[in-house]
Amino acid sequence: MTAVLVLHGPNLNLLGRREPSIYGTSTLADIDHFMGEFAKSCQIELSSFQSNAEHALVERVQQAMDDGTDWIIINPAAFTHTSVALRDALAATGLPFIEVHLSNPDGREPFRHHSYFSDLAVGTIAGFGEDSYLLALQFVVNQVERSG
Ligand code: DQA
Repeated sequence: MTAVLVLHGPNLNLLGRREPSIYGTSTLADIDHFMGEFAKSCQIELSSFQSNAEHALVERVQQAMDDGTDWIIINPAAFTHTSVALRDALAATGLPFIEVHLSNPDGREPFRHHSYFSDLAVGTIAGFGEDSYLLALQFVVNQVERSG
């Protein structure tokens, strides 16, 4: 079974209440739930982790080196634009990862235009609301099927 780790960065615990015109009305629990249902239907083992703390995300990424994780789907949230430490942790794992965003940072304030992750990611999916996560998981499923 393919194991996928979904990581959510700072303030994503507030989804549903946080700027709903930008981030939508689904809560993080809703997103984890529909990701989990989709994963089950595709024989994917899914785990999810959210933190507001950079060090906690770095430590969870480091764990992924040894816990059988095959793919990472990450919404680094504000750390997208600031965190060399989280970037370095992902690079250290050597694991393929997909960067996702609910909104489209390129269409927002200039400080959101730079990502410390995009050049290392297999790809970035942004601007599709909660579907950004599902599209990322669909890509992993396609890859698993292609590799037989
Ligand atoms: C975000 C975009 C980031 O710029 C922002 O800091 C977030 C959420 C998104 O999902 O659209 O917290 O990653």
